[in-house]
Amino acid sequence: MPGRPDTRRVLAAACLIGGPPSAVLLVLSGLDFLAPGPAALAIVACGVAALGVARLWLGNLAALSQAVARAAAGDGRLPEPSSPLLPAVAEVADGVARLARTLAERGGQVDRLTRADAAIVEALPDPLLVLSADRSPLRANAAARTLFGATPGNMAGGEIASLLRHPILAEAVDRALATGAIQRVDLVLPLPVARDLVAQVTPLDPPLADGGRLMVLLADRSHERAVEQMRADFVTNASHELRTPLASLLGFIETLRGPAEDDAVARKRFLGIMAEQAERMRRLIDDLLGLSRIELSEHQPPSGEADIGAIAEAEADAMAPILTSRRARLLREVTPGCIARPADPEQIAQVVRNLLENAIRHGREGGQTVLRVETVQNPKPGVMLSVADDGPGIAREHIPRLTERFYRVDSGRSRAAGGTGLGLAIVKHIVNRHRGQLLIESDVGSGAVFRVWLPAA
Ligand SMILES: Nc1ncnc2c1ncn2[C@@H]1O[C@H](COP(=O)(O)OP(=O)(O)O)[C@@H](O)[C@H]1O
Ligand SMILES: [Mg+2]
Repeated sequence: MPGRPDTRRVLAAACLIGGPPSAVLLVLSGLDFLAPGPAALAIVACGVAALGVARLWLGNLAALSQAVARAAAGDGRLPEPSSPLLPAVAEVADGVARLARTLAERGGQVDRLTRADAAIVEALPDPLLVLSADRSPLRANAAARTLFGATPGNMAGGEIASLLRHPILAEAVDRALATGAIQRVDLVLPLPVARDLVAQVTPLDPPLADGGRLMVLLADRSHERAVEQMRADFVTNASHELRTPLASLLGFIETLRGPAEDDAVARKRFLGIMAEQAERMRRLIDDLLGLSRIELSEHQPPSGEADIGAIAEAEADAMAPILTSRRARLLREVTPGCIARPADPEQIAQVVRNLLENAIRHGREGGQTVLRVETVQNPKPGVMLSVADDGPGIAREHIPRLTERFYRVDSGRSRAAGGTGLGLAIVKHIVNRHRGQLLIESDVGSGAVFRVWLPAA
């Protein structure tokens, strides 16, 4: 029973307290200093008093030790003592109760802080690992688990083990432990897709409560590197595309000033070629400017509406000169009244123009192109515009790359046909801005179909 001393202890304590005076009383009565009657009475009184004192003290001490034990447990709740306490003991018990409450509050605070820290670490957008002194993973936040395919229960699972075995990271960890200084290293991980990572290894001294001795913070730079690479490629490609006609122009100017100065026939021929090259540069600059304008507005959807059928008919009419030069035919299957919304009519016209030009220029000489506009329910209710040709088609491996800037299946042929290599990149950006879809289907030898779905709601 809480706060109740056990009987044997009480008896032992009572003997200790009441024993010596009872013995003195016995001796006094044996030496006839006391009559046996009063002596017996005094001994009994002594025993009873000793029992009472022993019970009271042991009860108080038991209650006190129980209170101390509960205070150490840290829940701050102390039991009411089962027997009345002596004033001095009550004071101590009071102090213990206050101590217990403070301890419980501190415990709660530490708990909340720890949980807040864990939540922050877990929610960090960058992958973070905590390693023990023997370099085994103790913690991995959500970003790290996603990147490496690990689970909270199995830190060493997934690709974390191969990250930790990476020689560059292992060396950085060694250096961090040896020097006590933060180490930063770049590494490429051949995860399912290669990743460019920057790792920051921080030695933790003193170690964390869970034994964490090192923190590894990773930053995934793959996307930035890809963007940087794309930008660099773009500048190289654009300069190259401009330099070629420019070199040809300079060459002809040189010839016209020198050897062909007085050759009227040559001059006429050269001026014709120069005009063609200058026209090529103009087209390229127009497309480059158009592309950058569209990219700038891509995140902001259009607000108007576009009559796709009418736009398609107008653009088809404008194809007459190239159709003649390619001896090709254009069939129209246009359902009137197909309205795309929200849409920018100017940009939709650009899409139709680029697709028709491609079909006629990259299609078969003397071939046939079909332009179709209709309302559809798939993939979602909207307007579908399609351009199908019966030309040489496009090999499967090229299809996903056709919308990259300057990507051409055959650069020589594309340039000869007057292409800049930017047409489909422009189409893709316009379709993206309209929250539409571009689908390309083709088999070598059986033509190509370009489909553009646009929202109608
Ligand atoms: N209808 C088509 N048939 C065959 N190839 C095509 C067709 N449309 C596009 N292509 C291929 O896609 C490439 C990229 O097209 P595009 O971006 O419009 O550039 P360009 O037409 O200036 O070459 C073309 O160079 C061509 O190789
Ligand atoms: Mg084109």
